[in-house]
Amino acid sequence: MAPDYSDKVIEHFTNPRNVGVVENPDGLGKVGNPICGDVMELTIAVTDDVIQDAKFRTFGCAAAIATSSILTEMVKGKTIDEALKISNGAVVQALGGLPSKKRHCSVLAEEALQSAIANFYERRGRAIPEPIRSRLKHLEQAGKH
Ligand code: FES
Repeated sequence: MAPDYSDKVIEHFTNPRNVGVVENPDGLGKVGNPICGDVMELTIAVTDDVIQDAKFRTFGCAAAIATSSILTEMVKGKTIDEALKISNGAVVQALGGLPSKKRHCSVLAEEALQSAIANFYERRGRAIPEPIRSRLKHLEQAGKH
């Protein structure tokens, strides 16, 4: 049986925003879910620590595509510090909820964002702050990054 998606999930899945790749990105994050095989790539453009642009390419289920799409809208105009506070719970809430068995799909968006921000710090030669440093270590150990 098809999951019971909110209108907003269906709308973002059928009309995803910001699909593609930011040219010469300031940060690139790519994460996968080793269980279902879905992959999300997020690229960001950053000026003065403010995310000016964000684009995604996701090979995945409807929930993964909808969460990727809304995430790009949520991060634009936010500072790096504000973006780091965006949790998968906030993404799910912005979508009007996700069926419980699809909630793990929203974690991919949170992880891709943290990965892109870590990459931004690396490219700028800045130390990657906690908690994303340990989160990325955890992702590497789980084979997701
Ligand atoms: Fe893999 Fe949704 S089933 S992210």
